[in-house]
Amino acid sequence: MKVLFLLQSTTGNTAVITEAASRILKLSGIETQIVNIVKHALPESYEEFDALFICSSVMYFRPLIQMEKVLANMPAIEGKPVFALATCAGGPGGFFDIIDDILRNKGTELTGSFYTLAPSNWPLHLHIATKIPGQSIGDFLSLKFPSFRPLLGFPWPGSCTPSIKDADKLEEWVSAAGTFLKSSTSDGVPKVKTSLLMSALGKMTTHSQIEKGMDLFIDHVKCTKCGLCVKNCPAKIIAQNDLKEVPHFKSGCHGCYTCYNICPAAAIGQKYARGPGSQYHGPSPEMKSVFLS
Ligand SMILES: Cc1cc2nc3c(=O)[nH]c(=O)nc-3n(C[C@H](O)[C@H](O)[C@H](O)COP(=O)(O)O)c2cc1C
Ligand code: SF4
Ligand code: SF4
Repeated sequence: MKVLFLLQSTTGNTAVITEAASRILKLSGIETQIVNIVKHALPESYEEFDALFICSSVMYFRPLIQMEKVLANMPAIEGKPVFALATCAGGPGGFFDIIDDILRNKGTELTGSFYTLAPSNWPLHLHIATKIPGQSIGDFLSLKFPSFRPLLGFPWPGSCTPSIKDADKLEEWVSAAGTFLKSSTSDGVPKVKTSLLMSALGKMTTHSQIEKGMDLFIDHVKCTKCGLCVKNCPAKIIAQNDLKEVPHFKSGCHGCYTCYNICPAAAIGQKYARGPGSQYHGPSPEMKSVFLS
């Protein structure tokens, strides 16, 4: 039994839970392979895999654009079990329904789905939230009312910091997926129930709207020309002829802010957010210690 994890993670949060999920399956004797769709070559065929896990962060209430493109271009995988795993800092919106729709065109559908709350890496959000005092109130309220963490996470991003309970829930879900894969008599794997409204929010946001909304620039004084943004852009639209020049953006941006968050000089900005205070250098130590220790 061999399972393929297709992963896209802009700042490492989803990479952490993917690694955790892979370890759990391995412990139950299932072979796993993680393919980072931005950094590694895609498999030539999916035939050798008995099941797929689609692992991506939620952005604009949708899967990451590169992940959607990879899934849409994938050959038909009739009847193969597929699981979706996400991290988000509030709600998944149409994430799972959009993946399900793509899979139905490939002759299969989602067998199970799961998401975990994780620190926000959205610069616009962090720019606003870092100005709001009272994180300790958020921490207190999120302990008392855990189901309100997605709402509390807007003013106080620390409310979405994962706890050991989140790791337990992930383990429970992955173990259910493992049992399903090993015995066809299983009752099935839990699926995320999305409200029609939240799902519609994701489905209504188009890739071209996302691109149009982007207004990134590079501060020529701060930029050290290190080329890190160029290497990590999933859309490959940051151009730099050599390490003597400041890179520039071409068209086709996926709006993922990987470049913004990764820049060691905090040289990438946009109209409403710039500077190190609105960057997320993930995965956070809490993500790693909760899910990987
Ligand atoms: C541009 C952008 C849009 C986002 N949109 C959402 C969203 O719609 N819902 C949500 O809950 N979190 C949203 N987030 C937060 C990320 O999903 C969250 O921080 C996630 O854990 C990042 O994981 P990664 O490091 O694996 O990419 C967004 C982040 C960015 C940068
Ligand atoms: S990552 Fe930042 S410093 Fe490095 S080339 Fe890109 S913009 Fe310049
Ligand atoms: S330019 Fe930046 S925000 Fe746009 S796709 Fe590339 S890494 Fe993502």
